[in-house]
Amino acid sequence: MSTYIINGGKKLEGEVKVSGSKNASLPILAACVLNNGITKLYNVPNIEDTKVMIEILKYLGCKVKKSNDKIIVDARKINKFEIPEELMRKMRSSVILAGALLGRIGKATFSYPGGCDIGARPIDLHLKAFENLGININKNTGYIICKCDKIEPNKINLDFPSVGATENAILASTLTSGTTVITNAAMEPEIVDLQEFLNKAGAKISGAGTNEITINGVANLKNVGYKIMPDRIEAGTLLCAGAITGGNITLKEVIPKNIAPVIEKLEECGCKIDIKKDEISLQAPKKLKATSIKTMPYPGFPTDLQAILASVLTVAKGTSIIVENIFENRYKYASELMRMGAKFTIEGRTAIIKGTRKLNGADVEATDLRGGAALLIAGLIAKGKTRINNIEYILRGYENIDIKLNMLGAKITKEV
Ligand code: EPZ
Repeated sequence: MSTYIINGGKKLEGEVKVSGSKNASLPILAACVLNNGITKLYNVPNIEDTKVMIEILKYLGCKVKKSNDKIIVDARKINKFEIPEELMRKMRSSVILAGALLGRIGKATFSYPGGCDIGARPIDLHLKAFENLGININKNTGYIICKCDKIEPNKINLDFPSVGATENAILASTLTSGTTVITNAAMEPEIVDLQEFLNKAGAKISGAGTNEITINGVANLKNVGYKIMPDRIEAGTLLCAGAITGGNITLKEVIPKNIAPVIEKLEECGCKIDIKKDEISLQAPKKLKATSIKTMPYPGFPTDLQAILASVLTVAKGTSIIVENIFENRYKYASELMRMGAKFTIEGRTAIIKGTRKLNGADVEATDLRGGAALLIAGLIAKGKTRINNIEYILRGYENIDIKLNMLGAKITKEV
């Protein structure tokens, strides 16, 4: 397991380019299976999760070429339809391939993705959407075996606006001969990116970004090149790094409206934020002010930035309240921050943070992807040295985050 060593106390200054979105790249890489041809993707982040997704695509029979942020997927020879357990376990969001395989060949076998560090992560909504589309599901073995002669376009109402279930329903119904309507759909920007990609490849989908998405099935997709949207969670993470260090930073190649709720919270903390078309500049105050957040489905405050903003709030003046409404176990990072002197009280889904004057460097463990990023943010201002172990969690979702932060003046080294 590798380690980040951070010498805290440096103000971050300067500008940095945000990478392509992990959570848009994964469903769009899966969507390449729907094209019986060649797809070129640009701005794909070179992170562990996209590497695993590429490994699975190759296992299924795709030819995949990678050069920097460009990925070329040749999906003309899909010769498997089951996703191996060890790959499912490496990345639970590979369940998104099920919709693409069912849409392309009418079969998909995979194991229960299983819970992860932040919650049970059930897939009941995915399976219910598949059943609505006439897909037969056999769950008697440890595997989930899905098959159908033909996908039957239908209405699908999601009990909860699940991002993954919305994406899987879109993928499964793109290549049909009728109309599927998803209601109570997730409205995340990554779903808009998936729609834009599929429509550029010849699909006929509308409504992404609202809670009702209409898919008019088409016979097939065509070869296409597509640039992945910027990563809004990385953008929010970098803004929080600027805020906690009293810094003055500018992010390039971002979409400000995608992180509007995060910008609003950082302004409540006293940050001055200027927005240009694809740039965000943040000037942090000398002393941050406490605020409160409730995580919600988009366009509410994103659960993926809950831990990271919590880090900022540990040194804000006053008491902050956080309510985590999306995942049931997303405070594991708090005990690690407390080793650095943060003052947390966790009551169920609520965290109460009493701002403290400073944090102290300590040896801490990353507990999950975003919890690990929260420790990185805290280490930037902690007095002395902070060692973060198990940074593999962080490397799953952030491309060169240490290099980016060091370019802004941080002092982070990696110990393999
Ligand atoms: C996506 O996960 C993201 N991952 C997550 O980001 C993000 O936190 C989440 O959406 C919410 O925004 C990717 O896009 C790869 P959900 P997903 O289905 O699709 C419950 C990160 O850090 N639920 O919207 O798995 C579920 O338990 C990751 O980058 C069911 O009950 O999220 C959770 O409580 C973490 N049944 C809630 O819905 C289901 O069938 C939201 O889950 C599916 C979900």
